[in-house]
Amino acid sequence: MKCVSKVVPVVVLNDEADAKRQLSALAEHLPVAEITFRTGYAEDGIKYCAKNFPNICVGAGTVINAEQAERAVRAGARFIVSPGLSEKVAAVCKRAGVDYLPGCVTPMEIEAALELDITTVKFFPAQVYGGLKAIKALSAPFPQVRFVPTGGVDEANLAEYLACDRIAFVGGSWMMKGDTAENCKRLNTLLRTL
Ligand code: 3PG
Repeated sequence: MKCVSKVVPVVVLNDEADAKRQLSALAEHLPVAEITFRTGYAEDGIKYCAKNFPNICVGAGTVINAEQAERAVRAGARFIVSPGLSEKVAAVCKRAGVDYLPGCVTPMEIEAALELDITTVKFFPAQVYGGLKAIKALSAPFPQVRFVPTGGVDEANLAEYLACDRIAFVGGSWMMKGDTAENCKRLNTLLRTL
């Protein structure tokens, strides 16, 4: 999967007013958003983002079946993220020509991803599954794999994660909580120093 930013914000949108507020704040400082299928507004949120914020590379997150993947692609998602690995979602993404980032935390799951020619995987929930220590251990048998730790990543451990060359980028929702505009601005400033 192509890396458009060292951090991919995980964004939960509830309705159009929420989308306008959150995406406006994000767009000023960050070039990418993963809009999750955790709400019924996800599909419309992706459409809204693609239409109104063309500078944001919009993707869909928490995609757990082929039907959601089809809807996300039709709505304009340019990449798809799953908490686990779904061969059916992978097939939809391949057909549509969009990047697929599946969640893999065990050697067996990573091997399944490699069999699908996927070499960048989400590592979720990162802090629970051993964080950087686990990623470094998994990198020994899988040097071709790049990881995207998500789940428990925040400003405090971001630099440590990004310093590891096995990490493609990180995902997280921390910057979308509280004062989103201020958080995204601070993150943008921090990323320039890393
Ligand atoms: C995800 O959907 O990828 C995670 O919920 C993000 O994890 P975080 O909320 O701990 O950043």
